[in-house]
Amino acid sequence: MKTGIKGHDTDPVSNIAVGYDLLGFALDAPGDEIVVRFREEPGLVITQVTGAGGKLPRAVDKNTAGVAAMALLRHLGEERRGIAMEVHKKMPFGSGLGSSAASAVGAVVAVNELLKRPLEKRELLPFAMQGEHVADGAWHADNVAPSLMGGMIFIRDNETLDVHRVHVPEGLYAVVVHPKVEVLTRSARSILREEVSLEQHVRQSGNLGGLLIGLFRSDFELIRRSLHDHIIEPQRASLIPHFRAVQEAARQAGALGCSVSGAGPSVFPLCPHIPLDGHIGQ
Ligand code: HSE
Repeated sequence: MKTGIKGHDTDPVSNIAVGYDLLGFALDAPGDEIVVRFREEPGLVITQVTGAGGKLPRAVDKNTAGVAAMALLRHLGEERRGIAMEVHKKMPFGSGLGSSAASAVGAVVAVNELLKRPLEKRELLPFAMQGEHVADGAWHADNVAPSLMGGMIFIRDNETLDVHRVHVPEGLYAVVVHPKVEVLTRSARSILREEVSLEQHVRQSGNLGGLLIGLFRSDFELIRRSLHDHIIEPQRASLIPHFRAVQEAARQAGALGCSVSGAGPSVFPLCPHIPLDGHIGQ
């Protein structure tokens, strides 16, 4: 009997307010599910895509999971290997929870397992990146790296994939609020201004440094002071209905901060000591 191998990787929250394209963490759930099996005929095919409102293509070269898996197979010299893949999406399309990254990661993890693990998990990152790249045309690891590696990840440089694990303090939780609107990452990137003023750069760098130090020291008050995005959030807030009201309500309720998850529309309050929804997966 043939059995499938599952690659199950969780959705990430990226940017974390002050680390546009540089910071992200993995949630415990939801996560996409990828099933792969060997087949007689040569080549990779996607036999089924479920979820995401039926909007995702089955063509291998257009689907994030297909592109990521093919990049890995090519690297291994196995591009003619007969593999059938199923992609089961657990989040709506354009949710801001890095669903395309989760599929790309699930695909490379599953194919690597099927081939008896020729690469270490960390080595799968560049191939998952190629999958994410077809989704939004950009090159940022802040979804893919945490989805693959778990926990919170800082990317010093996206080109060289210089990625580093960030300490997650005991008792830090994320609550994810998902409004029922669709925001496409490609469009939410295209509205961003290319220029950043010197003042914005200084304030944002201060907050990014403060957030990282606060996380490593488990200093919740420093985290609270640092979770203010002066560059990206003001430009994207209008894409999310009632964002400012939700943000204010979260802060009033004790959240350390509340910002846009990835390109939105999901919103994530970071909370101290209240295990509500998503503990940051280790
Ligand atoms: N850092 C990316 C952005 C994440 O904000 O556009 C997209 O999911």
